[in-house]
Amino acid sequence: MKFNPLRYTGMQYRRCGASGLKLPAISLGLWHNFGDVDDEKVYRKTLHSAFDAGITHFDLANNYGPPPGTAETNFGRILHADFKQRRDELIISTKAGYTMWDGPYGDWGSKKYLVSSLDQSLKRMKLEYVDIFYHHRPDPETPLEETMTALDLIVRQGKALYVGISNYRREEAAKAFKILKKLGTPCLIHQPKYSMFERWVEDGLLDLLEKDGVGCIPFSPLAQGLLTSKYLKGIPKNSRAAKKHGFLKKEQITEHRLRQVQQLHTLAVERGQSLAQMALAWILKDARITSVLVGASSSAQLLDSVGCLENSTFSTDELTQIAHILKER
Ligand SMILES: NC(=O)c1ccc[n+]([C@@H]2O[C@H](COP(=O)([O-])OP(=O)(O)OC[C@H]3O[C@@H](n4cnc5c(N)ncnc54)[C@H](OP(=O)(O)O)[C@@H]3O)[C@@H](O)[C@H]2O)c1
Repeated sequence: MKFNPLRYTGMQYRRCGASGLKLPAISLGLWHNFGDVDDEKVYRKTLHSAFDAGITHFDLANNYGPPPGTAETNFGRILHADFKQRRDELIISTKAGYTMWDGPYGDWGSKKYLVSSLDQSLKRMKLEYVDIFYHHRPDPETPLEETMTALDLIVRQGKALYVGISNYRREEAAKAFKILKKLGTPCLIHQPKYSMFERWVEDGLLDLLEKDGVGCIPFSPLAQGLLTSKYLKGIPKNSRAAKKHGFLKKEQITEHRLRQVQQLHTLAVERGQSLAQMALAWILKDARITSVLVGASSSAQLLDSVGCLENSTFSTDELTQIAHILKER
């Protein structure tokens, strides 16, 4: 398979916290669009286009599909067929933390679950190790020490190079960082939900990450497609909101949201970019953000998103207009 020899010239690579690792400003997530319900021809092309555009980071989890596990199986198959000899150019992550199998050991944050789940993920992807292994969500019942010790163990076993946490609020993240540091496996990265429509990370989490030298890779930066021009004229048939297994629900596409989306779209057009591009650039303007983790149901969408790097600065007036739109009730 021949890839674009200039793929590393157009992408920005940003240091992940205080670590030695750099990630592309745009990373691709395989939550939707890469399962057995999806079209292999389409997602294969999306993976090729991503790599050709300089995207070196692909994010998975044990439960991505549907059915759960199939995104890893499909990714592994394409990786071994089309990306031979490219493993060392890639950062592949996976996670465990949500329901994966029946019984008491297939969910949450015990050492038993995390170690078994990563073993299963490695088999599905036919990999010897992943670059980043995440605890996917905090577990209110398992001692944090046990979950963090499991992450440390996995690194010592050589099954992951780095570890991260996802969906942890500021206080619990601070405790996790402390434990990991003491164990000698510092937390590489935090993966929180963050977009123009969901801004809780601005309330202390980003400050903590900066202080502790931990990177940040926001997920759903396009609010699952709401922050694009996709829903301006209703709900298209081929959209996440129209799919039975889609996590974007029709009830989330309210008149209020659509009014905001329309105004943001007008501003994006004035800036000479798509709304998706403006929404991504708006997140990347903060130097504490390592990478934005986008999804894409086609290679055209992904390339549109990568185009955000061509116009990523904002005037004070534009930022004021955006703040005003986002405050509207
Ligand atoms: N840690 C966690 O708990 C967690 C949770 C959720 C996600 N994630 C990670 O974050 C990744 C991204 O999440 P996400 O898929 O919700 O991200 P997103 O980028 O907010 O949404 C992706 C969806 O937006 C639409 N889209 C993307 N680019 C577009 C463009 N340029 N123009 C028009 N529409 C566009 C597509 O919708 P259509 O499919 O409708 O075309 C696409 O499927 C996931 O794959 C996963 O790796 C992590």
